[in-house]
Amino acid sequence: MPEAAGSAPAHRLFFALWPSAALADGLEQIATAAAGRFGGRPTRRETLHLTLAFLGDVAEPEVAAVVAAGRRVVASPFCLHIDRLGSWRHNRLLWAGCAPAAGLAALIEQLRGGLAAAGHPLAERQYTLTPHLTLVRKLPAATPADEVGQLPLAHLPEWPCTRFALVASQLSSLGPAYRTVAEFPLSGGR
Ligand code: 2AM
Repeated sequence: MPEAAGSAPAHRLFFALWPSAALADGLEQIATAAAGRFGGRPTRRETLHLTLAFLGDVAEPEVAAVVAAGRRVVASPFCLHIDRLGSWRHNRLLWAGCAPAAGLAALIEQLRGGLAAAGHPLAERQYTLTPHLTLVRKLPAATPADEVGQLPLAHLPEWPCTRFALVASQLSSLGPAYRTVAEFPLSGGR
């Protein structure tokens, strides 16, 4: 685990949605095809996810409070349809995304509000807040954005979201490894 300078061990934490097996299969195929065509490193199937809120390094004694903030979320299940691909030059990512979805927006807003209220500001200042699943990292800078957007997506299944997770990330030269810290059902509603 990474360590915060001069303090307790820290965990690099984020809240995320993990796709169903069928959706992960489809996304992996697209990631492999896109990296084959444009270059870059495709995301491994088991690490495909959509980040809801990124906390960055959280000291060990604080993790329980972050889990508690996740447990306080009361939100309904919703369904996402991954219907677009995009790319960002500044961080060299190729990603899959969806049309704005009220259920997803409500979950993100409640989670972020709850974390802020509990004294856990997010480490996202420099980062785009567009919900996405990263499919390829280290995308060559010359990749034409319009060609990325035209890759076929038709076979992807709907994504019923019924739970979300708090995940710890460990970075290595082989790419990130993720460990689920806690899972939370989406069973409430407003
Ligand atoms: P990415 O896939 O777009 O890089 C674990 O690293 C997850 O947290 C990834 O989904 C990553 O998004 C996201 N992430 C990493 N750093 C972040 C930051 N500063 N702000 C928001 N999300 C971040």
